[in-house]
Amino acid sequence: MSTAPPTPATQSSDGARSLANRLRKNLRHLTRWVQREGIHCYRLYDADIPEYALAVDVYECDVRRVHVQEYEAPKTIDPDKARARLQEALPVIAEVLEIPREQLYLKVRRPQKGSAQYEKLGAQGNFYEVSEGGNRFLVNFEDYLDTGLFLDHRITRSLLASLAAGKDFLNLFAYTGSATVYAAAGDATTTTTVDMSNTYLEWAGRNMALNGFTGKPHRFIQANCIEWLQQAGGSQRYGLIFLDPPSFSTSKRMDGTFDVQRDHVALIASTVRLLQPDGVLIFSNNLRRFKMDRGAFPDLIIEDISRATLPKDYERNPKIHNCWKITREP
Ligand SMILES: C[S@@+](CC[C@H](N)C(=O)[O-])C[C@H]1O[C@@H](n2cnc3c(N)ncnc32)[C@H](O)[C@@H]1O
Repeated sequence: MSTAPPTPATQSSDGARSLANRLRKNLRHLTRWVQREGIHCYRLYDADIPEYALAVDVYECDVRRVHVQEYEAPKTIDPDKARARLQEALPVIAEVLEIPREQLYLKVRRPQKGSAQYEKLGAQGNFYEVSEGGNRFLVNFEDYLDTGLFLDHRITRSLLASLAAGKDFLNLFAYTGSATVYAAAGDATTTTTVDMSNTYLEWAGRNMALNGFTGKPHRFIQANCIEWLQQAGGSQRYGLIFLDPPSFSTSKRMDGTFDVQRDHVALIASTVRLLQPDGVLIFSNNLRRFKMDRGAFPDLIIEDISRATLPKDYERNPKIHNCWKITREP
């Protein structure tokens, strides 16, 4: 039996070495910013080297945990080669980030349509607490494709907090309610959180409670937002609304489909009906080729804040989301 120590993963091949170098370079580049801004969860690597088509997100929880998403290789790439590269990449990531393999979680991201993205992968039920912008959130690395916190919207969430004081806040397609937590922390008078999924709505309630926001001012509504918007009448109006729909949505609970490009005009129009005259709507989505139909809204001021809401750790991928500040013409 050999007594030689195992070869460090970073020394195993040219490819592994360049991946390690890139991870180290990005760490160096981001560390000062992360420390200065008090950021605990950030994207370290996003397919910077095309052969290693991964997104690597670092979460400083109880210990450092790392969420790795493998982008599905294009058909032109030999699947055996892609698998071999991934097998090579994982120990490199663990080594550079100085974590044991159990703190690294791997998911494969396929282009998804409909609700598959939000379905359950497992049932480990392990939730960890992370902090962002002075608020606390529960994340889960095993049971779903996403962790519960979309890191690309960090700045969008703090924008919502800065606009929320004294407002009634409405969060549509709310997912785990992270934007609601920020709005409540920014002194919103009331919050209303709407999502179709009971699982995510419950998670939103736990995130709110973790930050001390419970009781009557905070409503949680399980509904299809498209139908809810059509029925939401009465006199209730909101001073601040966050509308962050998926690019596509179909569900057993829904008739028909939702396609953000096709349906954004109707969606924005029915949301604006619920705005107070001086209210602000922040609309965003993740469709890379999204085109806002400005001509459809002659009475609205539509400001593209995609660039202003792009965090430093996503600068290499500026199309990660598009984001718009929408108000009425005075
Ligand atoms: C925030 S959206 C999409 C987030 C991000 N913009 C993206 O595209 O990945 C995800 C949430 O929308 C919810 N959702 C999808 N379709 C819905 C619908 N028609 N009505 C209400 N919630 C819906 C899902 O349950 C999930 O919590």
